[in-house]
Amino acid sequence: MTASQYNQEEYQLFQAFLENACGIVLGENKHYLVNSRLSKLMREQDIPSLTELVARIDSAVGMNPLKNQVIEAMTTNETLWFRDGYPFEILPETIFTEYKNQKKTQIKILSAACSSGQEPYSISIIADEFMKKNFGANMQFQIVGIDIDQPILNSAREAKYESMALARGLSEERKQRYFTQQGNYWQVNTDIRSRVTFREHNLMQSYASLGKFDVIFCRNVLIYFSAELKKDILSRLASMLNPGGYLFLGSSESIVQYSDSFNMIRTPKGAVYQLKP
Ligand SMILES: C[S@@+](CC[C@H](N)C(=O)[O-])C[C@H]1O[C@@H](n2cnc3c(N)ncnc32)[C@H](O)[C@@H]1O
Repeated sequence: MTASQYNQEEYQLFQAFLENACGIVLGENKHYLVNSRLSKLMREQDIPSLTELVARIDSAVGMNPLKNQVIEAMTTNETLWFRDGYPFEILPETIFTEYKNQKKTQIKILSAACSSGQEPYSISIIADEFMKKNFGANMQFQIVGIDIDQPILNSAREAKYESMALARGLSEERKQRYFTQQGNYWQVNTDIRSRVTFREHNLMQSYASLGKFDVIFCRNVLIYFSAELKKDILSRLASMLNPGGYLFLGSSESIVQYSDSFNMIRTPKGAVYQLKP
């Protein structure tokens, strides 16, 4: 498929489908992205046009593997270990320390749009380091990773990373302490994995089944959504937080214009949002 094989009307039909399916807003000038990400799938399944692609998805009854494949192809899974640095310093220095002083024993953390697992496993490593420094503290950490992309979640559950992916953001010291080499891969050690569970979940759907959290990471995914959807998701994330709970966004993301449920807490390391009383 090349850009010339579909017209503006078809492109708009596909834009509407993608926004309805997973919230992603495709800009007007993203024809090359659609081409590069979907041409193989469409060739393999003998789908001649975007109109036909959307029609086949719409007419599917029950399971809809084609829809999942299209979402998988169109989402960006870019991630790395300890991304942006500062959340992983604020977490132990400010938030976990506060919970320890409050003698809070169960801490639940959500990694929303967790991609291949680097974010929830980085959180679990921080929890481990915190407990080693605060030996005797009675604190248990439960980390839930959610994402819309089933294959990426499967690789997150496997927790095996090639050297290239491992090198992005991970120090040699943490690599040696928390990973075990298996041939060409390094796997996250069992104790770090045991705090983390993964669930397939679309951020556009109800959060009722996920329960309440003390800290939510929702980073580098809202940027793909419309202002309206950002507002809706931020208000629903606020309702999932326990009183005084914290929210981390990506370093280039902000809630200004989209939510007034949070106070911005500035620390020397960076900013985190706290649910208003
Ligand atoms: C760029 S990655 C961000 C990963 C991680 N949070 C980080 O900051 O490094 C974006 C992730 O959002 C997921 N995603 C996109 N739309 C979603 C939706 N509607 N519901 C849940 N996850 C979604 C994608 O599958 C992808 O794994």
